Amino acid sequence: MKLVKLAIIVAAVTLFATACGDSTSTNQTANAGGAQATPAASPKATATAAATPTPDELAEAKTAYGQFCTACHQDKGEGGMVKIEGKRMKVPSLLEGHGLEHSDAEFTKQIAQGGDGMPAFKDRLNEKQINDLVRYIRRDIQAGVKLKTAGH
Ligand code: HEC
Repeated sequence: MKLVKLAIIVAAVTLFATACGDSTSTNQTANAGGAQATPAASPKATATAAATPTPDELAEAKTAYGQFCTACHQDKGEGGMVKIEGKRMKVPSLLEGHGLEHSDAEFTKQIAQGGDGMPAFKDRLNEKQINDLVRYIRRDIQAGVKLKTAGH
């Protein structure tokens, strides 16, 4: 008789536990659904943030530098030995020496008229594009060495 009672209690407890388990898993499903909704919302927020960047007035100059100048002057302006159209030439660094001493006007003239191994760009770039390239060199290429030029 005692055994039967025990069996009923065990059965009842088991049933109860199963019921609980079910309800828990139902909750988890609901939570998972809620969690899915959150990541779906975040890319939207990112897109909104990316849609309103601060426009860089020298973005075009940066592109032009990559298109016309890096072949010789390199991404960071360090120059060095380059091989252009089969000819090897030494390109001076824009980060030291004359690159820091020469004025914006001298830079503008060099870019427009070329010389000493550098081609002229006045037929490919207008005055504003050349001026912007000089500003880009000063602002970004020479960013790390600006302090040294301050006394000049
Ligand atoms: C074919 C290689 C070549 C290309 C392409 C080239 N340059 Fe040059 N650049 C040179 C060489 C070589 C010199 C050094 C000329 C000299 O000794 O007077 C130079 C000099 C300069 C100088 C003068 C640096 C100083 O010390 O006063 C500037 C500024 C300059 N280049 C900017 C540019 C820009 C901007 C572009 C792209 C629009 C460009 N260069 C494209 C080879 C090149």
